[in-house]
Order: sequence, then structure tokens, then C-alpha cells
Amino acid sequence: MQQVFRSSYRAPSNIAFIKYWGKHGNQLPLNPSISMTLKSCYTEMSMQLSESSNMNVDSMLFEGENKPEFIPKIQSFLEKNKDKFPASFNISLESKNSFPHSAGIASSASSMAALASCLGDKFDFDLNQTSEIARLASGSACRSLFPNYAIWGKSSYLGSNDEYAIGFSEFHENFSQMQDAVLIISAEEKSISSRAGHELMNNHPYLKGRIDQANRHFDQIINAMMTGDFDSFGKILENEALSLHALMMSCENSFTLLGANSLKAIEKVRAFRKETKLPLYFTIDAGPNIHLIYPKHEEAAVKKFIESELKNLCQDELVIYDEIGQGRYKL
Ligand code: PMV
Repeated sequence: MQQVFRSSYRAPSNIAFIKYWGKHGNQLPLNPSISMTLKSCYTEMSMQLSESSNMNVDSMLFEGENKPEFIPKIQSFLEKNKDKFPASFNISLESKNSFPHSAGIASSASSMAALASCLGDKFDFDLNQTSEIARLASGSACRSLFPNYAIWGKSSYLGSNDEYAIGFSEFHENFSQMQDAVLIISAEEKSISSRAGHELMNNHPYLKGRIDQANRHFDQIINAMMTGDFDSFGKILENEALSLHALMMSCENSFTLLGANSLKAIEKVRAFRKETKLPLYFTIDAGPNIHLIYPKHEEAAVKKFIESELKNLCQDELVIYDEIGQGRYKL
């Protein structure tokens, strides 16, 4: 009888401080990025695998329901990258997310990091190889394996490279207990996929400027995180998020993902900071939701502000309180 291998992993989502935007070749980034690993937003994935003469995804269950529509993406990732695996196989997957499906939070980073971890378990991959597999499945997923912070893409930081992410552990203790409160401005599906978004960078009029800016922001934020400088960190974080959206608005087939309430939330955060001088900053992914980043010791004041002034800007008043996490682990 054919041997069946089973493995289950929990892998978290991550929020980028310096954004990966634009790619070339086989999922290689145009610029370096750094992210914070989250804790409460995660995917749990169980894999059953048997070696076989061809690559085949037999079934995919999501939250107990059969989801054949999820299969083609995973199937094509496996076929395209079969030289990365020592043997071909049949695979069955079952996954669930900790965050509500309708929260408008992308689950590709956590789910593909969990899948790569299960595959790495089967083939005895080290962390670099596992991160590379995650990257091939879904770019930013390669950063989700690491505790605290992860760097992906060739930069001035020693050891960083385009193939896989590495952990960043030289941060100042000010950055050891960061929080991420996600304002769910809209839970609707994005009007443009991140793949299409990356593609729009290819002929972007600001391409060169963007790559220079991302490298500069990267060096500056690493420096701020090493020295514990919240002020410089926050300036770069916010500039980076707004630059990402400015790139979307200034490409050939321009699009906007920010909503009216995203802008209102940004203005309120700026006013709150001016008034209180507290280190509360925002970042934004490819969507309308606003991530608020702050240290744990300001939690009480920030939560009070969110609950009284920002919650009403969110769809169904949904705010997800998350924080820095320790990466994937075997279940
Ligand atoms: O990994 P992808 O293809 O979903 O792209 C992620 C893009 C951003 O979330 C906007 C930035 C990032 O670095 O995570």
C-alpha cells in the first residue's frame, strides 16, 4: 500500500513596513521589503501527501467545505516548480483561518506559508528552502515563517536576497512588543488582484524612482528599528504606505483602493498624534483597510481612541487587534 505522509502547520499573516510592489522572473521582487509577523491572524493547514508519478492536487477543503476553485492555483504552482521537490506527489489539503473570511484580509501569505511548511516537513527542507517555496507560491508568504520581523529582497542588509526571506532580530527593545490594530474599512473583495497590481509596475513612469525610494526607505527603517527611533520609523512607515497607493493611482490603468473612510482615519490618526505625541502610526496594504502600529505600553490610550473615534469608520464596526508574533509552528 502506498505510504501517506501527514503534516499540519499554523502560519501567520504579516504586515509589510516597506512594501514589496512589482516583480520579475519567477516571483522575484523589484525591491527589498521588511514586515512584522502577526500573531492572531493565521491559517492552519493539514496536508496528506503520497508520492506519485505526477503532481496532482486531489482535494482542497476550506473551513470544512470542498473548494475545487482553490485547486488550479496550487496545481500550477506545483507543476511550475516541480524541480524544487525531490519527488512528485498527490496532495490533499484542508485549511482554516483564524480571521473571518469576510474581513477583507488577504490569506495568501498565511496559507501559502503553512503549505510550504507542510511540504518542507515532508522533504526535510531547511528554513531558507521552505521560505523559497513559500515565495514561489505567493511572494510575501516567504516572510511569514519568521519570528518578529523578516526581510526579503536583496538590499544593503547582510544576507538579504531575492530567493528567500531571512529573520531580522537586531531590533531595539522599543520594537519588541508592537501592536497592529486593523481597521476594517471595507470587507469587500479587492477590485484588483495583487498579481495585476504588481504587473502595473512594469511600465510605470515612476519605476526607477520607486526602486530608489524603496531602498532608501528600507535602509532608514532598519536604522530606526535598530536604534529604537519611533519618530523616524513612523515617518517612513506612513510615507511608504501612501507611496504604494500613489503608485496605483499614477499607473497607466490607474485605480484607487483607498476609500473615503480610509482617508478620514488617516487624518484622525495624524490629529491624535499631534495632540497626544503618542507613537501611533498607520500603514496600508493593497486595500482600503488601515493598520495601526504602536507599542504595547500605549495600548490603553490607543484602544480608547480607536473605540471612540475610529470604530465608526469601519464596516460593521470591525477592528481586529493583533500584535507581533513568533512565526509558524507545527501542530
Ligand atoms: O504577496 P502578494 O503578491 O500578495 O503581494 C503583497 C503586496 C503588499 O501586501 C502590498 C506588500 C507586501 O510587501 O506585503
